[in-house]
Amino acid sequence: MRTAVLVSGRGSNLQVFLDAWTQGTLAIEIVAVGSDQENAQALERARQAGVSVRAFPLGAYPNRRAQERELLGWLKDLGIELLLLAGYMRVLSGEFVREAGFPILNIHPSLLPAFPGTQAQRQALEYGVKVSGCTVHFVDEGLDSGPIILQEAVLVRSEDTEESLAARILEVEHRLYLEAVRLLLAGKLKRSGRIVTVI
Ligand code: GAR
Repeated sequence: MRTAVLVSGRGSNLQVFLDAWTQGTLAIEIVAVGSDQENAQALERARQAGVSVRAFPLGAYPNRRAQERELLGWLKDLGIELLLLAGYMRVLSGEFVREAGFPILNIHPSLLPAFPGTQAQRQALEYGVKVSGCTVHFVDEGLDSGPIILQEAVLVRSEDTEESLAARILEVEHRLYLEAVRLLLAGKLKRSGRIVTVI
């Protein structure tokens, strides 16, 4: 499946997909990696893997709509069939999601609908929850609000810092995101409204 990944930062989730693809353990071809950040570390990871990269910095466009139009045009020209958001820190508009015509997945470091948006791990610690985790979901026009595919809990420890909690969640993210994509590729995800069932 011709796949593109959108990133904004470090790219550890991207690396998991690059590794699975190059090792032939996942039936996707990573055709391109896009970013809203020209200097994202993730873009370097993609280059190292020989994947073509392109940055779409918001500042280079008159508005967000123009940035999304160029991004979507690029993805369509590449014949993308699956789009994975891996630490892409922008909300895609409803127009983008509707016009895409291919599935878009995202991973988020909390048990949604708790703590959407940025710094989810800090939000969880400040709220005082005892359990957090991560969520893989289909992307809709909202903020981390699309139909949930998989979730896994991670216990919060009293001595946790934002960094230690994020690190334990990240370990789970790397496994859970791969699993969700495997299920999608195997045709095992049935969607009915916002309910996703693994069949
Ligand atoms: C991950 O923890 C991911 O869940 C989070 O950003 C991090 C990216 O790490 N995404 C969001 O918060 C999206 N709302 P990575 O660049 O090393 O994959």
